Amino acid sequence: MKFNSFCVKESKDKVTTKPHVLPIYATSSFVFEDINQGMDIFTGKTEGHKYSRYGNPTIDAVAEKIAKMAVYGSELSAFAHMTSSGMSAISVALTSLLKAGDTVLSQGNLYGGTTELLQKIVSKSDIKTLFTDLRDLDKVEDTIKANLDIKLCYFETPANPTMACVDIAGICEICHRHGIITVADNTFCTAYFQQPLLLGTDIVIHSTTKYMNGHGSGIAGVIIGKSPEHDELIWTTLKLTGGTCNAWDAWMVNQGLKTLSLRMDKHSSNSLAVAEYLSTHNRIKQVNHNGLPSHPDYELAKKQMSGYGGMMSFEIDGNVQDGIDFMNRLTFCTLAPTLGDVDTLVLHPASSSHLNVAKEIRERNGISDGLVRLSIGIEDPADIIADLQQALDN
Ligand SMILES: Cc1ncc(COP(=O)(O)O)c(C=O)c1O
Repeated sequence: MKFNSFCVKESKDKVTTKPHVLPIYATSSFVFEDINQGMDIFTGKTEGHKYSRYGNPTIDAVAEKIAKMAVYGSELSAFAHMTSSGMSAISVALTSLLKAGDTVLSQGNLYGGTTELLQKIVSKSDIKTLFTDLRDLDKVEDTIKANLDIKLCYFETPANPTMACVDIAGICEICHRHGIITVADNTFCTAYFQQPLLLGTDIVIHSTTKYMNGHGSGIAGVIIGKSPEHDELIWTTLKLTGGTCNAWDAWMVNQGLKTLSLRMDKHSSNSLAVAEYLSTHNRIKQVNHNGLPSHPDYELAKKQMSGYGGMMSFEIDGNVQDGIDFMNRLTFCTLAPTLGDVDTLVLHPASSSHLNVAKEIRERNGISDGLVRLSIGIEDPADIIADLQQALDN
């Protein structure tokens, strides 16, 4: 072999003992011993990796862990597929399970990107979405009876950023009686605080970009479900539309999962302390936190969630400019359009996460121009409160 050919060849793997931490398999393909092995792997006769869009040891290990977390403590088993983003998880779940002529039933107060996806992209395949108040179960049942083409009910609970909750067990019971598939976005709670699959939901999606990663260091998502039929439909769509996760981002999620419970407990106690502080401040009109008895879904949240996480929102008594001035005065909290990181983040939904949602839909669902969203971190709560206080009082 010539020197230049030698340079091109892959280096020999020198692993002797098993690594303690899951390795990142940064490889697009896997090598076959001979063509027969390749054919057996491609036809599914033998298990084995072939091409990372079709599976990769790093991604598969993290997906398996997430699947187990989703049904932890129960007799159920689940499948999970990691995706390139939370939006990829949502779009793959919807496009795998729906066909032209179907209707989706959903709520008006979803994460803005999901509302846009339903209205601008999913609709192109002749799939309609009906938005209604999913908290009103009688209305849900009436809507289903009046619209026989509803095939899937998509909900987010708690919803971004109003913290509105949907009664998961209640809605799943109604949907299943009518043969409707249920899909829940569990990004805010994670499986640590809420397990929709155990409450009857068919499919759960997460933006793992948020609490599962927890450190703001990557973009990824996951689709989790229980039925082999859904697994097959979702996996086929995912690998053919190319929305699979990459090994690096899956690995970052793996690191985050190790401290998920510690972080979620601290996010939860910190956010409640901040919510209690803000609700006593005379410049605050309304505080949305599931742990405040004043929240309309306080009882429901207590029933189906074992903790609150770090998300909350509030409205300053004043005009839009007052809200902008408040945010510009913050020095400890960071203005950033994401959530679920270890540090406290502030966002103005009307000009970012919900920018492309029609104003009347936003306002009807409590996302006013003056609403501020907080993703409370795991710092010392005194520092977070002191910053909010100086920005409100100055
Ligand atoms: C509740 C919720 N679901 C889904 C998404 C989309 O996730 P990603 O940005 O990872 O695509 C977001 C993003 O903010 C979100 O807040």
